[in-house]
Amino acid sequence: MSKSKINIAIFASGSGSNARKIMEHFKNHPSVKVALVVSNKKDAGVLDIAKEYGIDTLTVSKSTFYETDNILTSLSDYNISFIVLAGFLLLVPQYIIRHFNKKIVNIHPALLPKFGGKGMFGIHVHEAVKEAGEKETGITIHFCNEHYDEGNVIFQARCPIFPHDTAQDIAKRVLSLEHEHFAKVIEQVLTI
Ligand code: GRF
Repeated sequence: MSKSKINIAIFASGSGSNARKIMEHFKNHPSVKVALVVSNKKDAGVLDIAKEYGIDTLTVSKSTFYETDNILTSLSDYNISFIVLAGFLLLVPQYIIRHFNKKIVNIHPALLPKFGGKGMFGIHVHEAVKEAGEKETGITIHFCNEHYDEGNVIFQARCPIFPHDTAQDIAKRVLSLEHEHFAKVIEQVLTI
């Protein structure tokens, strides 16, 4: 734990490729530290990545997350003042949103407000984008509120969709945009 830096927690449910970029970006940062990684999945790849970087981890069950506010105590133990959702699949409950008002950001692999909401995660997003015949897609980094994929937009970046693209092709292009921008945008939000 660091008292002098802004301590952030990353919440993630999956493999954590974005989380890795963020950990790498802030590894020796003068004012921002990834102090904790939280997952709702015991076997999430992101937990191994955190260990690689020497970052503490916490696994919360869905019931603990929704039926208690125990996580606030853990976040406070680590002096967390900012939360990054990087592929976190549970809807963030109101007690966390209220406690971290305007201090939670999410990344979504499409140009919100299109292709967001419940069920719009992973390959489903890119399938829907392709199905709709979109000519471009991209990423949205936004503040998080109590609804899926809503909250003020901070940043968007776009990429083209070609006629022969599969949903997997689109997913790859979008993921590389995420890797390029997410950590930098977090840094901007935290340091300006
Ligand atoms: C990303 O596409 C992100 O936009 C979404 O979940 C995915 C996480 O991927 N919210 P990874 O676990 O960072 O590879």
